[in-house]
Amino acid sequence: MNVRPRVNRATPARRDLIFGTTLSQSLVQPYFVTPGKGVTEPVPNMPGIYRQSVDSLLASIQEDFEHGIRNIMLFPVVPSKEKDMHATVCMDENMHLYQAVRELKKTFGETIVVMTDLCLCTSTEHGHCGLVEGSEIVNDSSAKRIAEIALLHAKAGTDYIACSDMMDGRVKLIRQALEKSNQHTTGIMSYAVKYASSFYGPFRGAADSSPASGDRRTYQMDVRSGYKEALLEASLDEDEGADIIMVKPGLPYLDVLSKVSAHVNRPTAVYNVSGEYSMVMNSPGDGESKGMMVTEILTSFQRAGADVIVTYHARDALKSGWVV
Ligand code: PBG
Repeated sequence: MNVRPRVNRATPARRDLIFGTTLSQSLVQPYFVTPGKGVTEPVPNMPGIYRQSVDSLLASIQEDFEHGIRNIMLFPVVPSKEKDMHATVCMDENMHLYQAVRELKKTFGETIVVMTDLCLCTSTEHGHCGLVEGSEIVNDSSAKRIAEIALLHAKAGTDYIACSDMMDGRVKLIRQALEKSNQHTTGIMSYAVKYASSFYGPFRGAADSSPASGDRRTYQMDVRSGYKEALLEASLDEDEGADIIMVKPGLPYLDVLSKVSAHVNRPTAVYNVSGEYSMVMNSPGDGESKGMMVTEILTSFQRAGADVIVTYHARDALKSGWVV
């Protein structure tokens, strides 16, 4: 059984995220988690975004919760000395990412939706999203490895595993692994339609995840690709059992988002990525004019059919009332 429509209904917070009709309920705020204690380091080129240790992260999320944040996405930042060829660090159930999930679930329970990024690029020496053999980023053993790691995400208590690697067939393997270990309410938000975009630059600085050699063009989609491939990728992940289908980046692919959202029978997410955030935040103009830009941008995602919007602007948008 690949499709479990009950996943998106499992908690009140999930129902608000997926079926809530206001923009503010659809927003997901990303956070970067580092090992250590008392760490809050600003991310270059992304004003207002930090890399934080679990304790500092919890304090920030507590504050953000008071401003209305209900949905969060966690990205692990792994120190170079802990990286290897196989992302072994992700197989340790005491990894800081899993600690953060457990702490968040202890504090907030079902009142928030926790999503965790699952990819190999942040935890490997080579910085690729799959395993590397010679000069090839191999597919099937990568998907297998990703499914093994998915179980640790599920056991830590994440609501949605957000697989961002773009290997073929990994949603199916993740779903099978979850089924086998009776994790029936863990969701999969698949980065189904993800382009090899130039808009990920600031993120790669934050997560220290640039490929050591080569680029991501053998697995992420060609930026010149037309709609057929987007719809194919979306349909494959839907059939394999994804609970939410994502398009990424957002603004340059609004047309794709619109088509994908009309095509699939699953909720659609969009990722308003780091480079898009950076363009707005580093543009001339005061806070008020940036707020107006953010309102326009977030509204455009909703109009194009996004049910879920992952955006670094979420906190400011809620705090400053840029969206309702
Ligand atoms: C990792 C991953 C990336 C982003 C999310 N997950 C970067 C990449 O594919 O290199 C980008 C997010 C952003 O730019 O904000 N696979």
